[in-house]
Amino acid sequence: MKILAIESSCDETAAAVVEDGRRVLSNVVASQIEIHRRFGGVVPEIASRNHTLAIDNVVAQALEESGCGKAEIDAVAVTYGAGLLGALLVGVNYAKALAYAWKKPLYAVSHVRGHLAANYIDSDLEPPYLCLLASGGHTALLQVRDYEDVVPLGKSGDDAAGEAFDKVARVLGLPYPGGPEIQKLAKEGKAVYKMPIPVFKSGETARFSYSGLKTFVINLVHGMEQRGETIPRADIAASFQECAVEQLFLGTRHAAESTGARTVAIAGGVSANERLRARLDEWGESTGRRICYPKLRYCTDNAAMIGAAAYFLIRSGAESAGFGLDAKATVAL
Ligand code: KG4
Ligand code: ZN
Repeated sequence: MKILAIESSCDETAAAVVEDGRRVLSNVVASQIEIHRRFGGVVPEIASRNHTLAIDNVVAQALEESGCGKAEIDAVAVTYGAGLLGALLVGVNYAKALAYAWKKPLYAVSHVRGHLAANYIDSDLEPPYLCLLASGGHTALLQVRDYEDVVPLGKSGDDAAGEAFDKVARVLGLPYPGGPEIQKLAKEGKAVYKMPIPVFKSGETARFSYSGLKTFVINLVHGMEQRGETIPRADIAASFQECAVEQLFLGTRHAAESTGARTVAIAGGVSANERLRARLDEWGESTGRRICYPKLRYCTDNAAMIGAAAYFLIRSGAESAGFGLDAKATVAL
């Protein structure tokens, strides 16, 4: 089954053709990062306008690179939420129009399910497994009992991990998005600052909190500025990354131990983080667990992950969405 998938929930206009949930025939991402960078973050209205400008070419390119035409495509899939409403609407309306014109079934995919499914691409991973989803909008532990049977275990009560990376980067004068920039700068520094890490008591569900860590860094930097001190940016970046990663690691370990998970996957933009991968790999090796993560290009927003998720959704017997499909700013899972 070949699925043409579209994703426009934030600042990437993306289209892909995916075969049977695991094989990517094409994956085109038009990033708006440069456009939003001067504002220090994504401006929703500008994102929507740029999706409108880019989407036709992005879909055409995805089809061309896949070698597929209308006849070879079995279904159209689109992210309907969660995300920026105006941005989502561009993809949803485009997908509806294409499905109507081409007489193909249309499937609505949740963005979070897409991030999860990124782990199926070029992989033999099958449920059950535990997944840590960490992106700009989500930080959550999910127990994937079957492809369409996903149970939330714990999430952040305040900021998402990616959001903390972005805000800390901003206070250190680094450009958006902050994750890759902090990772780079951290290599030049040492994790000498002790920063807050929430502690779980055994028996408790792991939950995350990033606003305390973020505020700690902001206060640390502002204090140094007020005293006229030079900001040791690399050391702060290294310390922040270490604590941000440690929190993700401790929460994941806690959930894996309490559920008995032998396979642990990570997904979302923050799953690109080298330090997080190394920390989990180390633990996986010492405890005999399998650790899975998507290829870097499938960690951050893309449409291949939406095509992969759509395949497993269709296989589970889900009905096509119909042309009444609407975008949703928030989606349960
Ligand atoms: O999944 P994603 O592309 O979009 C959302 O659904 O939010 O995630 C973007 C987030 C941003 O906050 C970005 O700073 C973070 O992922 N990110 C990283 C890294 N690469 C991207 N965070 C830490 N380390 C990275 N290497
Ligand atoms: Zn995302």
